[in-house]
Amino acid sequence: MSEPAFVQQLNFHARDASNESAALQAALSLGLFSHLPESGSGEPVPLDALARRVGGSLRGVRAVVEPMVALGFVHLETGRGYSLPATTAAFLRDAAFTARLHEARRWWHPSAKLPEAVRTGATPEGNVLGWFREQFLSPRAPAPSPEAADFEDRLARNVLRTQALVTAGELGVLDRLVKGPAPLEDLARDVSAQPEALGVLLGVLATMGLTKQEGDAWGFSEAAGRALDAQSLPYFQRALPATMAYWEAFGHLDEAVREQKFRLDLRDPETARRIYQENASRISSIFASHLRLSRKAADLVRGMRSLAGARVLDVGTGSGVWGAAFGLADANSHVTYLDSPHVLDAVRPHLAKLKLEARSRLWAGDCLSVDYGEAEYDVILLPQIIPALPPSELPGFFARLARALRPGGLLLISGYLLTDRRDGPLDALYFALRRYVSNEGDVLSLPEFRALLTPVGLTAARGFDMPIQQVVVAHRGDVPWPATATATAA
Ligand SMILES: C[S@@+](CC[C@H](N)C(=O)[O-])C[C@H]1O[C@@H](n2cnc3c(N)ncnc32)[C@H](O)[C@@H]1O
Repeated sequence: MSEPAFVQQLNFHARDASNESAALQAALSLGLFSHLPESGSGEPVPLDALARRVGGSLRGVRAVVEPMVALGFVHLETGRGYSLPATTAAFLRDAAFTARLHEARRWWHPSAKLPEAVRTGATPEGNVLGWFREQFLSPRAPAPSPEAADFEDRLARNVLRTQALVTAGELGVLDRLVKGPAPLEDLARDVSAQPEALGVLLGVLATMGLTKQEGDAWGFSEAAGRALDAQSLPYFQRALPATMAYWEAFGHLDEAVREQKFRLDLRDPETARRIYQENASRISSIFASHLRLSRKAADLVRGMRSLAGARVLDVGTGSGVWGAAFGLADANSHVTYLDSPHVLDAVRPHLAKLKLEARSRLWAGDCLSVDYGEAEYDVILLPQIIPALPPSELPGFFARLARALRPGGLLLISGYLLTDRRDGPLDALYFALRRYVSNEGDVLSLPEFRALLTPVGLTAARGFDMPIQQVVVAHRGDVPWPATATATAA
C-alpha cells in the first residue's frame, strides 16, 4: 500500500471507522432495512414514511440512512425514496448471517474495555480478547456474498479496529514501537501489559497493516515505520480521545433516533463547555497547519474585494485561526473574535504571537442571541460553526448576520459541504452523524445553504474547494466572483 493510502486508512480507523459501524449497527437495530422494498419490486419509501415506520425522528433516521446510500447498501431514487439493491436484500434474507450481525452489536460497549483486557489479560464484561481473536485472527465462516462480507466487515470489525488503535495509543504501544522492534515479553514489560493479551492486540494491528512479527520480535510494518515517527505520532494520536468522547453515545445511536435521548448532549451547557474547550485546545495545538488553510480562504476573499481597513467578524472562533488569517491578510484590517468566554482564553496567546492584539476585539457571547447591529462588518466568517447550531435557529441567525453586513460585504462559511443529494462525501456524512448523536446541528448541501441565504438577501452563493475543507461564499450580488478559483458547484 502506498504511504498516502496507508495514512488515509489509518486516519479513517482513528476517526470514522467506528462512526461507520455505529450507523450500520443502528440501521440493523432500528429495523430500517426491513421497511424498504427491494429495488424494482415495490415503491421506494420516502424519508418521512421511513421515519414513521421505524418509529424514529426524521433527522435521526436521515443521519443513519444517508451513509447507507453513500456506501451503496441502500438505493436512493431522487424525489421518490429509498429501496434495497438486490445484493443487500439477498444477504439480509440469510437468517444465519443476520444472526452474526446481531451478535456483533453486543460487543460495542465491552470492546471499550480492550485497554483493561490487554493490561490484565481479562475483563469482567466477557471475553473481549476472545472476540477480537475470533474476528481477526481465527478462520471464519464465509459471508454469503462479497457485498455481505463488506457489510459485515464495516459493521462488526471497523469499530474493533478503532478500539485497537485507541488501546495501542492509551497503553503507549505505538510510542514504544516508534523506538524499534522488540520481543513480545520485552514490549509487554515496557507497556505494563499481559504478554499473551498484547500478542492479540499486535496481531489485530498486523491485520491492519500497522505491525509485523519477525522471528520473536514485533515492530512497525514498513508503511507504519515511514508514516509514524516521534514527530507525527502525537498528531495522529490526538484524534483518539475525541473518538472516545463519542463512544458511549454511538453505542446508543438507535435509542437517540427512537427516543431523542442523547447520551452526549452538547445542548447541555456543562457538556458543551468541556467538549468545546478540549476542541479549542486541540485546534490550538495544530494552529500553524490550520492557519495555512484559513489564509488560503483569506486569499480567495482578497481576490474578490479589498481587505484594506476591513472590519471582520469571526463567529465561533475557537482557537481564532480563521479571524487571525484575515488579520494577517491586511495590515489595516480589524477582527472581532466571538465565542463563549472560556474558549476565548485559547485565542489570546495566538493573537499575541502574531502581533495582532492591537487590531483585535474579543467578544464573549452566545452567537444566537448577541446583537450584531446593522452594516457593521465587511466580512463575516462562520468557520465550522453551522454544524454546532440547532437547525431551527439558522433562519433567524442568517437574517441577523445579513443585516450586519455592509454593502459589498461577504459571508464566508467553512467546513464540510454535502452533495446536492446528501449522499456524500462519506467523511462529511460521518461528521454529520457525530453532530447528530451529540444533539448538535447539521451538515448542509449548497442548495440547503442557498435556501437559507436567499430569503435574507444573500442571493449569490458559491462553494469553493479548499485543502481539506470547502467554503461557501455568499453576498448580495454586488461583488464579482474571482476569475481563478474553482467553484465546487455553479
Ligand atoms: C467546531 S468549533 C470551530 C472552531 C473554529 N471556528 C475553527 O474552525 O477551528 C465550533 C466553535 O463554535 C463555538 N460555539 C458553539 N456554539 C456557540 C454559540 N452559541 N455561541 C458562540 N460560540 C459558539 C464553540 O465554542 C466552538 O469554539
